[in-house]
Amino acid sequence: MTTSSRAPIELRSDNAAGVAPQIMAALAAANEGSALAYGGDAVTAQLGDLVREVFDHPQAQVFPVVSGTAANSLALSALCPPWGSVLCHETAHIFTNEGGATSLFSGGAVMRGLSGADYKLHPANLQRAFDDTLWGDPHHSQPSVVSVTCPTDFGTVYSVDEVQALAAQARGRNLRMHLDGARLANALVALGAAPAALTCAAGVDAFSLGATKNGALSTDAIVCCDPLVADQLVFRLKRAGHVASKMRYQSAQLVAYLTDGLWLQLAQRANDAMSMLSAGLRELGAELLADPQANMLFARVGRQAATALADAGLLFYGMGDGVVRFVTSFQTTDDDIAEVLRRAAAVLG
Ligand SMILES: Cc1ncc(COP(=O)(O)O)c(C=O)c1O
Repeated sequence: MTTSSRAPIELRSDNAAGVAPQIMAALAAANEGSALAYGGDAVTAQLGDLVREVFDHPQAQVFPVVSGTAANSLALSALCPPWGSVLCHETAHIFTNEGGATSLFSGGAVMRGLSGADYKLHPANLQRAFDDTLWGDPHHSQPSVVSVTCPTDFGTVYSVDEVQALAAQARGRNLRMHLDGARLANALVALGAAPAALTCAAGVDAFSLGATKNGALSTDAIVCCDPLVADQLVFRLKRAGHVASKMRYQSAQLVAYLTDGLWLQLAQRANDAMSMLSAGLRELGAELLADPQANMLFARVGRQAATALADAGLLFYGMGDGVVRFVTSFQTTDDDIAEVLRRAAAVLG
């Protein structure tokens, strides 16, 4: 079906997208009968087995939580002591957009945002942070975790080698490694990488799985590659109020999400829509802030054009200074993008 020339087109966020039908069906199936509470049910047990299989790690453990913020901050609280610091990119969601949740749950850990090209941490930036640290000095927070966001908040993607190198560098200083995987499926599809390669096998100790942005209804999850972290999380999650009594509904979403590669298929659609959009915008001469490797792009179009694009019915976030952010989702069709580009041509062309 073609998109009408006046209908609004959704590019604000993948959080604005709906729920994948397969996940809705899984929820309906989980609603048959009763089941033991607090994760003692068969679907949650199935989820644990599935995560160990998908991430090819016999000791991996999964903890459903309601949001990415909960997944990141609670995982980091288990990785970072109260006197520690979490080193991340200065644009990382955990640093800029989670309201200090990591510091709250960790009992005071400090977040340190580092610079780095392409919105990524690089070994040289990390080394500089290490060199600037007064190790063992109680007057200063002690670097304890390196966290990467993949894809980054600007739509760039760390390669497997880059994550491995940062994890090895972290390990060399006895730091832990965390990955914010709010859009992990989009990164895996962009890289053509196996789920294990970018996570547990790369040296990541714990990561968020994402899911809601990519077709789930109301769940994210922490995956722990290290059982010692998982042992702590059992208690931390309960004390933070993140052990849902009817956990089977979260688990059912995640089982459907990971089964038969649904998560990757959904992410592929979002990434393909973004490839079409970024190619078209480039042809129209738009300046992209970064190479959009997953499902998000930022373009500097100028203030007037940004207003005109909004007036033309495109739904997006303006980032100030004439920069716009466009995000595609599993629901974005090629027809949507063709229509976006028609309207953009009228403004930018
Ligand atoms: C990269 C990244 N990490 C974490 C989150 C947090 O997810 P939630 O909004 O579910 O707390 C977001 C949300 O937009 C995100 O973009």
